[in-house]
Amino acid sequence: MIQILTTILLFIFSYVFYVVYKNSNFSTSKLNLPPGSYGWPFFGESLALLQAGRDGVPERFVQERIKKHGSPLVFKTSILGDRMAVFCGPAGNKFLFGNENKLVGAWWPISVRKIFGKCLLTTRGNEAKWMRKMLLSYLGPDAFASHYAATMDVVTRSHIENHWRGKEEVNVYKTIRLYAFELVCRLFLSLEELNHIAKLGSLFDVFLNGVIELPIDFPGTRFNRSKKAAAAIRTELMILIKARRVALEEGKASSSQDLLSHLLTSSDECGRYLTEWEIANNILLLLFAGHDTSTCSITLIMKRLGEHPNVYDKVLNEQLEICKTKEAGETLKWEDIQKMKYTWNVVSEVMRLTTPVMGSFREALVDFEYAGYTIPKGWKLYWSIASTHRDEGNFVDMEKFDPSRFEGAGPTPYTYVPFGGGPRMCLGKEFSRVEVLVFIHNIVTNFKWDLLIPDEKIVYDPMAIPEKGLPVRLHSRHV
Ligand code: HEM
Repeated sequence: MIQILTTILLFIFSYVFYVVYKNSNFSTSKLNLPPGSYGWPFFGESLALLQAGRDGVPERFVQERIKKHGSPLVFKTSILGDRMAVFCGPAGNKFLFGNENKLVGAWWPISVRKIFGKCLLTTRGNEAKWMRKMLLSYLGPDAFASHYAATMDVVTRSHIENHWRGKEEVNVYKTIRLYAFELVCRLFLSLEELNHIAKLGSLFDVFLNGVIELPIDFPGTRFNRSKKAAAAIRTELMILIKARRVALEEGKASSSQDLLSHLLTSSDECGRYLTEWEIANNILLLLFAGHDTSTCSITLIMKRLGEHPNVYDKVLNEQLEICKTKEAGETLKWEDIQKMKYTWNVVSEVMRLTTPVMGSFREALVDFEYAGYTIPKGWKLYWSIASTHRDEGNFVDMEKFDPSRFEGAGPTPYTYVPFGGGPRMCLGKEFSRVEVLVFIHNIVTNFKWDLLIPDEKIVYDPMAIPEKGLPVRLHSRHV
């Protein structure tokens, strides 16, 4: 019944959008817009973009259109309900990253804006600068230098004891999801009670499924379920925030114990604090941003290490060298992370070939010219990580897995952009670097593994994951 109703309403919407869309073409028809097609009314070319990801070739969407429209730098399309100019390759990335807050500003599709409310992702200009500063004072490299590597190591060891040790077979994606979520719950909120984490985790699964979706808001749709799950998580967060405020006032919690305490007790130089809603929304954002991205990258790294035993051996040797410098049971420190150079090159090559995030968005703040075309104010802009990384023009022998590409000066600027760039570059880059390296250290020093599905296909929905979640057979290194 719901499906029939949804189909009828979709039809009506499509028709209304088609009429509005046809008429609105008159206002831009005299401009020298980039070549391209808006595709179907309402859906635009969203389905082609999503399908390319689901087929495991996320670069196809951009590369096919560059060829079809004969315009290598920019083309127009319509995705997720908005008209868009797609900026292609390193030149497009450089232009967008270098013109933040001048010609372009951060922007996310309406599904994202509706679900997250006011937080870093949905603000720009000075407000965003201020929020980034507040969050980076906890998440940036300076904060990590002092204490996070050790805490991450402790959580990772206990995760391995509980979920890997003694098992013959493990589904890597499903298991790492638990790990990544437990880690952020502990580091951001000091949550340790596993039932509480599991309850939040199941709400998160529903929430994540509908964030990057067409915003069709009827009972039963992915977007609607995601919105409800976000509201339930926010309610939980507000309870935690209020309880923590009391604990801080009574001296029963410390201001440096986690992200939540940090945000409740930190103000800017003018004495301005984040409101409780802003704290809840930003924590929701960080739990979201830090959850699936790290899960995907760790899963994909384990896939490549399983496929390339020689690379596994080199990573293992680097990690064993670090073990030699430590007492039995001593946790990893920041200085140890700095020594993991080869391992980081491997991680980088995995993220080049299979970027966890396909691309990101901006909005034109004014009319401007790019590559000889007019980009009208208000147009949405998309830049594609996948098609930049998977381009023979940027990486010779593009399909080849070769960590040595990252030795020395590494790739040419703007060709390798898994974390974006400019003032809106990923805020969790340092966090995820430490998280991924600490995990790899622990997994390779404990296990070797065989992939149970050789050449398992990677699909993007919307993030990169092996189709069956990467089942592996484990072999303990300590028998
Ligand atoms: C392998 C892991 C990760 C990858 C590949 C990744 C990738 C990205 C990308 C591509 C963007 C958009 C950047 C742009 O538009 O220029 C982004 C933004 C962001 N990421 Fe990450 N991310 C990762 C992990 C994390 C983690 C662990 C966190 C938080 C703990 C995080 C928090 C954020 C936030 C808050 C933003 C929005 C920044 C802003 O709008 O100013 N990310 N990330």
